[in-house]
Amino acid sequence: MAKIKFSFSELLNNPIKIMAVMYPYFLVVIIGIGFIYIGNSGSLVQNKVAPKLDDSTIVVTDLQITDAKIASAVDLKSFTEINPALIEKGKQLFQTTCSSCHGVEGNGDGTAGAALNPKPRNFHLVAGWKFGRKATEIYNTVQKGILTSGMPGFDYLAPSDRIAIIQLIRSWMPEPPKDTPEDVANLDKLYALSAGTKVPGTIPVVTAEKLYQTNYSDKIGKINFALAKLLSEKGTNLSAKIFFDVTTNQQKALVTLFNSSSWQLGEKEFLAVIADNLSENGFSGKIFSLSSSEISNLLTLLKSVTI
Ligand code: HEC
Repeated sequence: MAKIKFSFSELLNNPIKIMAVMYPYFLVVIIGIGFIYIGNSGSLVQNKVAPKLDDSTIVVTDLQITDAKIASAVDLKSFTEINPALIEKGKQLFQTTCSSCHGVEGNGDGTAGAALNPKPRNFHLVAGWKFGRKATEIYNTVQKGILTSGMPGFDYLAPSDRIAIIQLIRSWMPEPPKDTPEDVANLDKLYALSAGTKVPGTIPVVTAEKLYQTNYSDKIGKINFALAKLLSEKGTNLSAKIFFDVTTNQQKALVTLFNSSSWQLGEKEFLAVIADNLSENGFSGKIFSLSSSEISNLLTLLKSVTI
């Protein structure tokens, strides 16, 4: 007892020692709280709200492959006023893009169009036009193509290039019908021509994933290589353009080709491979309305990109 009394009074004289004596008690309390915390940690970290799961029955449509493009602002006057400089420019563009079917002078007598039914339009004739001869109407036709016949859509052609071609076509026409200011305003509203639009390219998520896996499998690498090559030639090579016209899913179409070798033997074998399982193999029935020379050119191109 005497000892404690002594210590107690000594403690009162020395506050630092009070701390030293209290310290073990604090420690016990803190460790105790720690144990209570750990004991309850299960319920502390558990998520009480069930996570929301995506409904796997929802079909997510993937993006289509499109090239990036920047469309420069268009002078709307070129829809209504004859512009000799544009007609000159149009001649070159028409030569590379349209003459194969429509003929160099626009008489509808190009070699690639010979086997087409209906025949490519003769721009010198007034009769037979399906979607109109006004500049704005031709603009739409060139944008969309005529899906039921052999007229492809040229949505990748820059608006200013398209207008140059239209100026040329209209220079061949007898009495070209005039566009009203409303016609031009409506088209401008539809495509933002006077504003100049930047159209970003897109790539399907599936393709993006596959691109990351390029080294994962030799075949995927080859398919991506072939696809990239076809995409890059789409604007300049008619057969590459045709490939995109006659396929519903380009990757699938290439897989079909890589999974078979008999198609390389000739046109007949090529079409036989495509006819087999047509709805599933990435090709569309449009391929059967191609002319023999178009098929043979497409075959040559596909052989060269699938080596
Ligand atoms: C692969 C062959 C082919 C190519 C290439 C082609 N066309 Fe055509 N085009 C056709 C065919 C076939 C028709 C007739 C379609 C019909 O009557 O249904 C046609 C019709 C048209 C018409 C008339 C539409 C109407 O209202 O009846 C226009 C305008 C036209 N093409 C513009 C062009 C331009 C411009 C180009 C080049 C950028 C071009 N075509 C390239 C095959 C082609």
